[in-house]
Amino acid sequence: MNQPAADTVTGTFLPEDRAVAAPTGTTILDAATAAGIHLETICSGRGTCGKCRVLVKGYEAPAPTPVDSRRLSPAQLQAGWRMACEHPFSADGVYTHPLVETQLRTVQSAGIGEIQLRPNVQQHVVTPAAPDLEHPVFDWPRVKEELASLAGGVDASLAALRRLSGVIREAGNGPITATLVGSRAIDFEPGDTTAAPALGLAFDIGTTTVVGALMDLESGAELAVAAELNGQAVYGADVISRTTFAAQGEDDLETLRMAVLETINGIIDRLLRAARVERRRVHEATFVGNTVMLHLLTGIDPAGIGSSPFVGVTTESLTTTAAALEINLEADAGVFLFPAIAGYVGADLVGVVVSTRLAQREGNVLVIDVGTNGEIALVASGRILCTSAAAGPAFEGAEISRGMRAVAGAVERITLGEAGPELGVIGDIPPTGICGSGLVDAVAELVRTGIVSPTGRLLPPDDLPGDVPKALRRRVHFDDDGGRFLLADDDPDAADALPLIATDIRQLQLAKAAIRVGVDVLLERAGIGPDDLDEILLAGAFGAYLDAAAVLNIGMVPPIPAERIRPVGNAAGLGARLGLLSLNHRVEAELLVGEVEYLELSAVADFQWLFADAMAFPEPA
Ligand code: FES
Repeated sequence: MNQPAADTVTGTFLPEDRAVAAPTGTTILDAATAAGIHLETICSGRGTCGKCRVLVKGYEAPAPTPVDSRRLSPAQLQAGWRMACEHPFSADGVYTHPLVETQLRTVQSAGIGEIQLRPNVQQHVVTPAAPDLEHPVFDWPRVKEELASLAGGVDASLAALRRLSGVIREAGNGPITATLVGSRAIDFEPGDTTAAPALGLAFDIGTTTVVGALMDLESGAELAVAAELNGQAVYGADVISRTTFAAQGEDDLETLRMAVLETINGIIDRLLRAARVERRRVHEATFVGNTVMLHLLTGIDPAGIGSSPFVGVTTESLTTTAAALEINLEADAGVFLFPAIAGYVGADLVGVVVSTRLAQREGNVLVIDVGTNGEIALVASGRILCTSAAAGPAFEGAEISRGMRAVAGAVERITLGEAGPELGVIGDIPPTGICGSGLVDAVAELVRTGIVSPTGRLLPPDDLPGDVPKALRRRVHFDDDGGRFLLADDDPDAADALPLIATDIRQLQLAKAAIRVGVDVLLERAGIGPDDLDEILLAGAFGAYLDAAAVLNIGMVPPIPAERIRPVGNAAGLGARLGLLSLNHRVEAELLVGEVEYLELSAVADFQWLFADAMAFPEPA
């Protein structure tokens, strides 16, 4: 084993995850350059171009120099960004740098569009020189030397080293293929096996649903997608109840970890079967999810997130192996967890911001990841602000009298017309319940027609406006249990009347008010009004199905033209895919968390008043 000389120090560069030794006193920039790591520079280290920024971790970032202060924002300085040409490379330093976008292959990928491929997984074919008595060089140093010219300094995992002897002998000292994750060789095979697919997995760990995508790292193609209910759901519907459950003891934390792990491993099995590929071909997996979900996945106690000031153990990204998390892939397959921003603004929102290119957008754009915990980000005049709003489970169709997930039989669209309700039912079968988008539609239509007042009250038949059609009027019923509006059969005693009851309307009102307060506070902090918003993006499996007019009718967002509201699908999951297909996007995520301004809604002085105001539905036009 080579030991660094006494007058050298060893640090690590990310995203390559490469350990580098350099003489004491070398600048970070020079240490990187000497190791073949390409940091961006125009001025060659003279401190004038402002391009060589790195995120310093592993020790306390040095005091900013005048060059740092001129070139970096206060938020970046605070997060630990420094100019690499200004500071010495230090022992134990971990330096993350943006990647230089050169010679990257551009491909089209499903749901993502155009992407410049730069996966963390590389395959190289090398032919190590045969040893002889004059050059009795061991296997790994010979392979390593060949790899060095292709991939720079590398090391090898123990599992890969265990295979190497057999692989070299089977290859008869001919070519072998090395698979690298970052700068670590995790597998060797005899011959040239680069025609075999190099695959990766991108996961979005939702509180309710876990979604995984199997991606081809060479072409960017999506090979299969699978979703399953998060196995933790039986231990609580939301992150608060999961956090409470985990806090009961180590065994309970482990129970939750195993539950989500089982879901993930089940999804992996399904994806591999669907795409008919070997497990061995999957070399890396990326994960986004809310902060509690990623704490639980890693077995880190999220207890602190459960109560004010909502502080968990870490928001940093994590690079580890499948074996460390017990994910059912080859032991050394890489795992990357996106960084988070706060206890309730997780790696999922970071994924959303990355995939919507929010940080690069001109103008003022708001994105809402609609769910049990609504996460909201606003880019305005170059600033990125974010917050989270406890919307509750109404948007998921939970805690609604006839609520259900968006599966066959769920009402997902509702229009109230002269002849009565027109229902859009998933699967075109008789309705059995109502999902989140159906609930939003239903309440929006009841507000529009005046059947529900701006205060959220379902009006008794005698108080309904005169222009409410008869076919709707006869669907409003009141008895000792309160009021209800029949969405399906208009016989109140029919089993399939599908009633929407007053508390359902109340649940939606609370959910939309929570989101609206978050939106209003962000706009206010950015110093802009609704008219200044160029676009509102609705993200999340649920957000994608929301109707812009309905969202406006319930007042979940401020009044802007409906054409400026756009669904963007599962943007968090797309962020995980981007991070899988290109290291650039991982770095972008790291940059982002250093720049974003987080607002804790519960700390806003007049929060209760704002919330009370946001409860009101807009007056019908
Ligand atoms: S290399 Fe130009 S500022 Fe550091």
